[in-house]
Amino acid sequence: MLHLAVRDDDDGDFGEAVLAGLAQPQKTIPARFFYDTIGSELFEKITALPEYYPTRTEVGILTANGAAIATAVGPGRAVIEFGSGSSAKTPLLLRTVAASAYVPIDISAEFLDMAAADLARKLPELPVFPLAADFTRPLKLPAGIVGRPKLGFFPGSTLGNLAPAAAIDLLRAFSDTLGEGSWLVIGLDLRKDSATLEAAYNDAAGVTAAFNLNLLHRINRELDGTIDVDDFTHWAPFNADLGRIEMHLRAVRDTSFTVLGSPVTMAAGETIHTENSYKWTLDEARLLARAAGWDPVDAWTDDAARFALHLWRRDDGAIEP
Ligand code: AVJ
Repeated sequence: MLHLAVRDDDDGDFGEAVLAGLAQPQKTIPARFFYDTIGSELFEKITALPEYYPTRTEVGILTANGAAIATAVGPGRAVIEFGSGSSAKTPLLLRTVAASAYVPIDISAEFLDMAAADLARKLPELPVFPLAADFTRPLKLPAGIVGRPKLGFFPGSTLGNLAPAAAIDLLRAFSDTLGEGSWLVIGLDLRKDSATLEAAYNDAAGVTAAFNLNLLHRINRELDGTIDVDDFTHWAPFNADLGRIEMHLRAVRDTSFTVLGSPVTMAAGETIHTENSYKWTLDEARLLARAAGWDPVDAWTDDAARFALHLWRRDDGAIEP
């Protein structure tokens, strides 16, 4: 049973965000703009790369521990996924917890409709209510799931894009959106040696480089940009002080271009910072939960402790001393 996507946001602010980001001393483009159609396809390719362990590791953890999750949360919840995937993870969770409805939320309406249609084929009996929205902003859940107990699903270490304060704000917004009695299953990449981390973001086949550089092509396509993409290379170091992988586009020579008619000049070596991907230890993740109004109930990792799947219950405010 597939209901039409409700659209309450779009990428209309791309031009504004790019101009503002390129006007800063450290040039920046927000990571959410990676995911146009080409970028979404490149990201799907990243998830299958030998160096990019998070996706397959998380699926393994979910497969091994689905029964424990189901026992904790009980059957028949509406599952609300923040950033819908087209992966194997979603049907796996939906079946494991015997979901009564599914609400995928994604900023790309096109990608969302594809993912929702695919899911409707795999689980034809399940009511699906796609929501095309930016889940970092407050949102209203579809009327079709009002009154159902809820389970949020936020896999893939997507939270890693946010710095700690913003991560806590988002987790608190999830708690507000989902309401009393809700649970959250959230996947977070673990902090580890920089060689493993840097390999995952600098793959030999160059797919991550293409994903990063697609932002420049997207500016040329959509914002009347005149960027010579050959003037830039992909650079993705682990910043150990801040506990995050950073992605940058680095100018290999002095270069200038226009975006929506506005001139931009960059010196050789200067970068555009395009993404942060924070890595959280188990203890840090538990602290994040508590700071945002969730009780960390359980967590599971793979044998190599590369990735963690956390189970949290909303802190509904029992009276304490
Ligand atoms: C989708 C944000 C989880 O940080 O690993 C993958 C995005 N960027 N390779 C990540 C990404 C480069 C990914 N997240």
